[in-house]
Amino acid sequence: MKYKKIKTAVIGCGMISDIYLKNLKEKFSVIDLDSCADLVEEKAREKSEKYGIRMRSVEQIMSDKEIGLIINLTYPSSHYEITKAALQNGKNVYSEKCMAVTVSEAEELYALAKSRNLRLSVAPDTFLGGSWQTARKILDGGMIGNPVGFNAVLIRGYHLVKNDADDLKRKFSVMYPGGGIPYDMGGYYIYNLINLFGPIRRVWGNSFTRNPIRPYLNPNHSRFEENFAVKTPNTMAVTLEFDKGVIGNLFITSELFGNETIFNVYGDEGILYLGDPNNFGDRIYIKTRGDEKNAISFTHPYLEDSRGLGAAELAWSILKNRPQRISPDMGLHVMKVLAAAEKCGETGICEILNDNFSRPAPLPSLYYGGECDEKLLCD
Ligand SMILES: NC(=O)c1ccc[n+]([C@@H]2O[C@H](COP(=O)([O-])OP(=O)(O)OC[C@H]3O[C@@H](n4cnc5c(N)ncnc54)[C@H](O)[C@@H]3O)[C@@H](O)[C@H]2O)c1
Repeated sequence: MKYKKIKTAVIGCGMISDIYLKNLKEKFSVIDLDSCADLVEEKAREKSEKYGIRMRSVEQIMSDKEIGLIINLTYPSSHYEITKAALQNGKNVYSEKCMAVTVSEAEELYALAKSRNLRLSVAPDTFLGGSWQTARKILDGGMIGNPVGFNAVLIRGYHLVKNDADDLKRKFSVMYPGGGIPYDMGGYYIYNLINLFGPIRRVWGNSFTRNPIRPYLNPNHSRFEENFAVKTPNTMAVTLEFDKGVIGNLFITSELFGNETIFNVYGDEGILYLGDPNNFGDRIYIKTRGDEKNAISFTHPYLEDSRGLGAAELAWSILKNRPQRISPDMGLHVMKVLAAAEKCGETGICEILNDNFSRPAPLPSLYYGGECDEKLLCD
């Protein structure tokens, strides 16, 4: 390769690490995947053997001067600690969402990255995927006229079937601070809305924990019928107003059953029916005046599960000395939106946000195919 690849280490070898490691190894040539680490040594060993990379301690990775990028795939309560240590050791960071558990932690990380002139991107990167870049192109091209509003709904059932194995696997996740569905999945929706409409100006609504004390329902759980505490919001309903005057509703809950997603954007000349923001390549549809609802052909690649795309784009931005598309401003803004939702639930007052940043630049839409698709991430 003409450019010197960015030597990269992954910290956190849990559930989502497989698809990251696979893509970082096979899909994105800009990444030189060097090593992985986990609090639990067996997890790191398994991934290091599977992907042919070094297993190291967090400390070894942090002190290695050659490592230029750390990908933080720990659970949310460790994001702050790992990202902070990485920045303090002069590493660029791509972190899974959210940036931290609290806004003040996120502000500290944001300031640290700025003061050290380091890159900090926070997932999700699905909005760089083919479905969402196509949506952006359709919207910016004016095919539904001027955007007026949106309606987004995300329904999951997180608590219904838990057994001991689930508890062990995701112990520090969806029931703990920073991991509830507004933080866990909400980021996908808010990032994709920001990609379409820019920063959010006003937030009204509520985000709260429904039934915080609840029993284990599964007779196979060793603590069947005993109570446990949900320590994070699990339901959020907000109205969001964007800089451009676009306004709409976002309802998220993990309190129901099954998976249900609605993501519609309404313009004065048509409607866009978007996919699940958790996915890279869902089919999208359009309905314009006097026509049926029609499927849209994709204008961009990365339709398959391309987790790691944002980290690769970040690596290219370092090599090409330009800003990365997933800016730390976006990551911090999302934290503030989520906190505002909780706060206006308590006060009953609309929260005003004053963050100013531009929408991420769209990816070019030239469709090269195969390995050449990575060319889209260069500039
Ligand atoms: N699981 C998914 O489907 C999914 C999808 C997309 C994004 N994510 C996000 O990815 C992140 C990780 O999720 P996951 O499901 O893989 O979680 P997980 O709990 O399965 O894995 C996290 C891993 O991080 C390790 N870890 C925690 N603190 C650490 C520390 N200080 N040092 C070293 N290792 C540490 C844990 O031991 C664990 O192995 C979360 O932010 C989550 O929101 C998860």
